[in-house]
Amino acid sequence: MTDQRPVAQASATETGPLLEMRGISQVFPGVKALDSVSISLFPGQVTALIGENGAGKSTLVKILTGIYRPNEGEMLIDGQPAAFHSAQAAIDAGVTAIHQETVLFDELTVGENIFLGHAPRTRFGTIDWREINNRSKALMSQLESEIDPTIRLRDLSIAQRHLVAIARALSVEARIVIMDEPTAALSRKEIDDLFRIVENLKRQGKAILFISHKFDEVYEIAENFVVFRDGRAVGQGRLKDTPQDEIVRLMVGRDVKDVFPKTRVEIGAPVLSVERYSHPTEFRDISFELRRGEILGIYGLIGAGRSELCQSLFGITRPSTGQLFLEDRPIDIRSSSDAIRAGIVYVPEERGRHGLALPMPIFQNMSLPSLGQTSRSGFLKAANELALARKYAERLDLRAAALSVPVGTLSGGNQQKVVIGKWLATRPKVIILDEPTKGIDIGSKAAVHGFISELAAEGLSIIMVSSELPEILGMSDRVMVMREGLMAGMFERDRLSAETLVRAATGNA
Ligand SMILES: Nc1ncnc2c1ncn2[C@@H]1O[C@H](COP(=O)(O)OP(=O)(O)OP(=O)(O)O)[C@@H](O)[C@H]1O
Ligand SMILES: [Mg+2]
Repeated sequence: MTDQRPVAQASATETGPLLEMRGISQVFPGVKALDSVSISLFPGQVTALIGENGAGKSTLVKILTGIYRPNEGEMLIDGQPAAFHSAQAAIDAGVTAIHQETVLFDELTVGENIFLGHAPRTRFGTIDWREINNRSKALMSQLESEIDPTIRLRDLSIAQRHLVAIARALSVEARIVIMDEPTAALSRKEIDDLFRIVENLKRQGKAILFISHKFDEVYEIAENFVVFRDGRAVGQGRLKDTPQDEIVRLMVGRDVKDVFPKTRVEIGAPVLSVERYSHPTEFRDISFELRRGEILGIYGLIGAGRSELCQSLFGITRPSTGQLFLEDRPIDIRSSSDAIRAGIVYVPEERGRHGLALPMPIFQNMSLPSLGQTSRSGFLKAANELALARKYAERLDLRAAALSVPVGTLSGGNQQKVVIGKWLATRPKVIILDEPTKGIDIGSKAAVHGFISELAAEGLSIIMVSSELPEILGMSDRVMVMREGLMAGMFERDRLSAETLVRAATGNA
């Protein structure tokens, strides 16, 4: 069956594990999130934890950080039994984590966010603000960032907030560092900075657990791997002896071939025309047409203005000049409700917790923006909502115990699928997808791509922003490349290549 080589054996010549988890099980109503899982983490080594959305990765992190108490199993640190009855107990035992959704506070400063709950004190017992500022600056500069510790979090970009979350995790003295999808919101340069820090942590003998859906990162930074499937550890070993195919097979239980099932679609008349769109600071003079059934990819480096352009099409920000036409009629979009009414929807990159009512069931979240469709009569409403949700859940490969469970109990990747589904369910004319498969596992990616293709075939027009070249190349009919706020090229599908796009995006013509 599967490869059960323990990591311990592979590292037998080195030191023993710093942390051991044995036979850990975690049960939620209706789900066994972890089923007798055993893993070991070693000093000076990175262990990658890999698995599909809902496989149990974040649950394990929450056990390690004292948020959940497992139903079964034991933990050992340096061979000594350890039990974390609280988050503080885990910190005291030397475990720190960057969570998939770190809760930070918009109204607090960067420094306050980093040291909330463990602020340094003066000898009089009051909070030592000078120390907070100095240490925050030092942590930020380790991350090669010059964010001022005294500014409020709400004034930072998504990537900067993420750096603050990382600084917060590194602000406690820890021997075991856990990173749950730390790179999802970061640019390549910030990922390089983070990886330099990880190398540094390795040299200091810390044991690191690294969770990511990106195989290139996993192979770049980690020595060991553990694969979870449906709450069980189905394989572990050394990465350098294990090809990616084998890991994917362990993860999804089959080969994943057709990741970009793009179907040839008859491209129709222009649906959306953008004429000379400019923004005071983010982009300038952008013009393009999007046609019926077309998938227009937008590629560019982070900071090229892609997301800002999409946000202005959706009425979140106002362009300074330019005009939009929808099916040949000029339209003026002043807010996102104008956009939704016109049939343009936007699924933002930062889907996170925004836009989901966490305590409400999945099916109600899915049908929230399309109530008009489901509420023809009060009696039919619930049945229609369920039917709608069932269709989208199936097409997006959503993993949930039932459609009636609160959306807050889903894994991170499955919550994202709900956000995508609820916007698709409004049956818009134009949908703008910003990094649609970020945080989505490799098996589900194929499902999401297949569904996008199908909707295009039904006549939906799609704008897809992505930093992943294979996704852009595999899915797009045309690709617009942006660089520093300008349009750096428009390429037809038959002229697409990775090299052309990267050249246009970086300006190395
Ligand atoms: N608080 C909870 N209540 C009920 N079920 C939960 C809860 N937390 C997690 N689950 C369930 O446990 C399973 C494992 O979820 P987990 O978040 O650990 O997945 P994951 O591997 O981190 O996935 P992803 O890649 O999407 O982040 C899922 O089926 C999820 O719905
Ligand atoms: Mg997770």
